[in-house]
Amino acid sequence: MSHSAAKAPLASVRSSGRAGLKGRIRVPGDKSISHRSLMFGAVTIGETRIEGLLEGEDVLGTAAAMRALGATVTRDGEGLWRVSGLGVGGLLEPEAVLDFGNAGTGSRLTMGLVGGHAIAATFVGDASLSRRPMGRVLDPLRQMGVSVIARKGDRIPLTIKGPDTLIPITYRVPVPSAQVKSAVLLCGLNAPGVTTVIEPVATRDHTERMLEGFGAAIETSVGGAGERIIRLQGRPEFKPQTIIVPGDPSSAAFPIVAALIVPDSDVTVENVLLNPLRTGLITTLLEMGADLTIENQRLSGGETIGDIRVKSSRLKGVRVPAERAPSMIDEYPILSVAAAHAEGETLMEGLEELRVKESDRLSAVAHGLTINGVDVVEGETSLLVRGPARKIGGGVVPTHLDHRIAMSFLILGFTADTAITVDDAATIATSFPTFTGLMEGLGASFQPVEG
Ligand code: S3P
Repeated sequence: MSHSAAKAPLASVRSSGRAGLKGRIRVPGDKSISHRSLMFGAVTIGETRIEGLLEGEDVLGTAAAMRALGATVTRDGEGLWRVSGLGVGGLLEPEAVLDFGNAGTGSRLTMGLVGGHAIAATFVGDASLSRRPMGRVLDPLRQMGVSVIARKGDRIPLTIKGPDTLIPITYRVPVPSAQVKSAVLLCGLNAPGVTTVIEPVATRDHTERMLEGFGAAIETSVGGAGERIIRLQGRPEFKPQTIIVPGDPSSAAFPIVAALIVPDSDVTVENVLLNPLRTGLITTLLEMGADLTIENQRLSGGETIGDIRVKSSRLKGVRVPAERAPSMIDEYPILSVAAAHAEGETLMEGLEELRVKESDRLSAVAHGLTINGVDVVEGETSLLVRGPARKIGGGVVPTHLDHRIAMSFLILGFTADTAITVDDAATIATSFPTFTGLMEGLGASFQPVEG
């Protein structure tokens, strides 16, 4: 699943015709829900059906891993995915290594799942994934009795072997991370007893919702200090589900910000997931003065979804509080692009987790903005952008195998006086394979660059 070694540079620049972006689009399915649908299907006897699965490299890596662990995973001509699983505790030892490419979510959640089985599996990935910290997931798994062979610093490649009988634990998540929470819960699925996860700060709750949907006994309560206490009774008998994956708000963020900053734009992104633990960017953009409305809000598969309509807007700088970070953790790169066009200062705080994403996003964003004429101050855990930038462009942005860095700077390029080049657009296929086509459909254009 790792990308080919060849880089695919791509550039964008302000269109000479000055026409805005116009139209209605749908972005691919939510990445978090897509990974989880395949994993839950793999531990459920019977056929789970998934509509709207994100067919990006990260999720296809998870599909391949679930096959390697013994599930039957197929796709029909209409794009309906079917998973026939083996039941909780039923996964089989894979014959080959599990290659997760660029995918933090796919690899970390599968570590939890595999740790819950008395089987061994080896995890590998690309250069970006191999740099990311895995100890945050491995530490609680070790407490549950899982053996790990990893190189120094708990990075992949690494091998995990689950014990014959797991120890159900109570685990207080030390960093706000839905991946850590989910890995513990997925491991706890096969534990004899109750696994408890305590989250001081709420993070996306797709795992909890799906556990309930598949039939597990799971309870969430709020403790005295506002922490969330999640209790999962192990060894449930799952019932196969039909899952309809809504559009990914983290992908919708790119056309949304593009429409805000390109003059004379009017874009609607339909069918977007509006789970309140994912909508921090919308809150922030509204505070910045965005002309953004949510239409046709409805419920689907237990989640709120809606159509987001955005028109070009005069934005103003705001302070984005640290507490909001978990609900917009993947959106800071594209928010920084909006901030480059806002009047005044935008201060984003509490960004320590950005340092351990697909790249060190704090420094990647600060560097990309600086070399393209935007005034920015990179703090240890904060970012300050002073807008509006007067003359944008001219830089070649190193993307460090990070899809969201690539997309963010291509969007900034739509407003640039001289082209912005990203050194590698191939990584976009990990989460948003239709990105360039959808943006072109709205009237944007890209410029291929000689490699
Ligand atoms: C995800 C959780 C977040 C997010 C990632 C998807 C998930 O990561 O950045 O893109 O699906 O659980 P962390 O758990 O590291 O915050």
